Amino acid sequence: YERIEAPLDDFAGALRAFFAAGGKGCNVTVPFKEEAFRLADRLSDRARLAGAVNTLKWTDDGLLWGDNTDGAGLVQDLKFNGEGVEGRRVLLIGAGGAARGVIGPLLADKPQALVIANRTTEKAQQLAALFADAGPIRACSFAELEGPFDLLINATSASLSGDVPPIAGSLIEPGKTFSYDMMYAKQPTALCRWASEQGAAVA
Ligand code: ATR
Repeated sequence: YERIEAPLDDFAGALRAFFAAGGKGCNVTVPFKEEAFRLADRLSDRARLAGAVNTLKWTDDGLLWGDNTDGAGLVQDLKFNGEGVEGRRVLLIGAGGAARGVIGPLLADKPQALVIANRTTEKAQQLAALFADAGPIRACSFAELEGPFDLLINATSASLSGDVPPIAGSLIEPGKTFSYDMMYAKQPTALCRWASEQGAAVA
């Protein structure tokens, strides 16, 4: 298992070369998950719902199979950190591919409420509409948010540029809120640092 950096303008070519060299399957990360979704011949239900693929492999009948394990991985990692979703008020920040990939699995764990907030509010509203039948989900702007929340999950790419989305400190209940940044890094991200300054536990 090793890393390959695909060129931004030729993910499909990098994938072809990988399989031609004997690769059996691969994980795909930012910014290629939507392209991997388009390239897959067959999709798992959760990949179809997520609109993004992070796992590709050739099946025995010569088809490219796409799956998305992001949401399941997030929920499992939250549990690993002692943080369940069931019955809790969950705030998901962001409405891009990363957010879309985790909404289904989060709702499957029966939160009390899942609120999506995004810089571009319409995108959060579209996602909430898409998953309306799957559980108690709603969308709003950063300014409209009313907390506190038990879980705060950052699915924006703001951390990659060291930014913190403009959300109020009152969304965090010191000593109770758990904050999780999906953009992993060796050091705590800007959002993790901000959340811990407000009194949240962070991962
Ligand atoms: P990904 O596949 O990683 O989710 P994406 O689809 O480009 O990438 O989505 C990026 C997300 O991060 C979006 O929700 C974006 O907000 P907009 O929809 O308003 O663009 C959010 N984002 C990126 N930079 C941000 C910043 N500096 N502050 C707040 N949100 C940011």
